[in-house]
Amino acid sequence: MGDILTLVNIIKIQARQILDSRGNPTVEADVILDNGVAGRASVPSGASIGMHEDIELRDKDYSKFLGNGVLKAVLNINTKINDLLVNSNPQDQDLIDKKLIGLDGTESKSNLGANAILAVSLASAKAAALSTNLPLYKYFAKLVNLSSDQLLLPLPMVNIINGGKHASWATDIQEYMIMPIGAKTFSEALRTSDEVFHHLAEVLLKKGYLTTVGDEGGYAPLVKSGNTESIELILEAVSKAGYKAEKDFVIGLDIAASELFEDGKYTLKREDKVFSTDQMINWLSVLVDKYPIRSIEDGLSESDWQGWSKLTEKLGSKMQLVGDDLLVTNTKFLEKAIKEKAGNAILIKPNQIGTLTEAINVLKMAKKASWKTIISHRSGETEDTTIADLAVGLSAGQIKTGSLSRSERIAKYNQLLRIEEELGTKAKFAGSEALS
Ligand code: PGA
Ligand code: ZN
Repeated sequence: MGDILTLVNIIKIQARQILDSRGNPTVEADVILDNGVAGRASVPSGASIGMHEDIELRDKDYSKFLGNGVLKAVLNINTKINDLLVNSNPQDQDLIDKKLIGLDGTESKSNLGANAILAVSLASAKAAALSTNLPLYKYFAKLVNLSSDQLLLPLPMVNIINGGKHASWATDIQEYMIMPIGAKTFSEALRTSDEVFHHLAEVLLKKGYLTTVGDEGGYAPLVKSGNTESIELILEAVSKAGYKAEKDFVIGLDIAASELFEDGKYTLKREDKVFSTDQMINWLSVLVDKYPIRSIEDGLSESDWQGWSKLTEKLGSKMQLVGDDLLVTNTKFLEKAIKEKAGNAILIKPNQIGTLTEAINVLKMAKKASWKTIISHRSGETEDTTIADLAVGLSAGQIKTGSLSRSERIAKYNQLLRIEEELGTKAKFAGSEALS
C-alpha cells in the first residue's frame, strides 16, 4: 500500500447465491465502482473443517438445499455491508477489511458470516486491481511490497488420489499429492504431473480399480491393501510416465488426522488399528523412511498440540510439516505453533479467516519465522481463480489446488499458465527450492 490512492469509490455491492463444485450453495459478490469497473469473487467451502475456522453462515432452512442455503449471508452483503462500504475506496484494503471486521463484531465472523465477508473482501481487491490497470497478481504483490522480479510461480501439490472424507473413506489418508520438484518451469511441472495423472489411470485400470474421481479431482480407488497401496500405485505411475521418484517427483500427504481422532486416539480403519499419539508419529516415520514423502499435512489432530511438537522434533528437519486444521489461517494459532515448534509450514485458506488482509498477515508472520507457505483451495470450490494470483503475488512458494481433472481445479492451474506467459522471462518457478 503506501501509494497515493486514486479517487475511486464503491457505489454498490451486489451478491447472489451460486453453486459450488459439490452442488452446494455459496456466495458470490460484485463490488461495483464509480468508474464503471466491477470486481467479482466467490467463496469456496471445506468438508474436513478445522474446529477453529471462522464461521460460514448457512440458512439452516431445511426446506431448501438441505439447510445449506446462504441467502442470509447474501442479504447481509446486499444490505448491511453495502451500506457500510458505499463511498469507500477499494484500494485501501486494510480499511475495507477493518470495516468489515468491525461491523461483524465477533471473533469468528459469525454475525455476517465469513463467507459474506470474504466474498466482499476479495471482490473489492479485484475491483481495485482493475481500476489500477494491474493484473491481480501484481496488485497483490503491491499490497506486500514485492516487485515483479521477486515473484515466484508456485510448486504445485497435485492431489492425484483422494481418500478420507473426500472420497467415501477409500483410504484413511485424505490426500496423496505429487510434487514435481524436477521441473524447471511451472508449465513443465504441470505437464509432467498431468502425464503421471494419466499414467495412474492406466495403472489403476490394469489392477481392476475404477478411475472415478473424488471431490478434488483425484482418483478414488477402493484400494485392497490400505493406505500405502495408494502410494505404491502413484510410484508405479511416476515410473511408467518416465520419471524418477525423489529426483522428479516427491510425495505429499494430507492425513487430515483431526478426522481420525477421538478420545485421544487415532482410528485407522484401513489399517485395522487404533493408535496413540506416539504410535501415530511412529507410523508416519515408518512411511517417511519407506517412501519419498517430503510433506505431511495435519499428521496429527488439531487438538494434539504436544504431539505436534514431538512430531516436529522427530521429522521437522527432513521435511515439511503443514498445519491446516491446526492453524486455520489464523495468526493466533500460528504464533503458538511457532513458539511451540509445532510444524514448520502453513496452509493458507482465505475462507478460514475471512478477509484478504488477515490472510496476508498470516503469510507474513509465517515467512518471518522461515516457515513454508502454501496457498490452498477448499474441497468445495468455484470457478474463481483468485488463489492462483494470490500464490504468485505473495510469492508463497507452493499452491495446493487439487488434481488434474474437474474444471474448478484446472481453472487455477490455467490461470497460473497465463501468469507465467505474461511474466515471460521474469517467470521464476519455485521448484524444488520451495521445499528446501
Ligand atoms: P477441505 O479439505 O477443504 O475439505 O477442508 C482440504 C484440506 O483438508 O486440505
Ligand atoms: Zn488439509
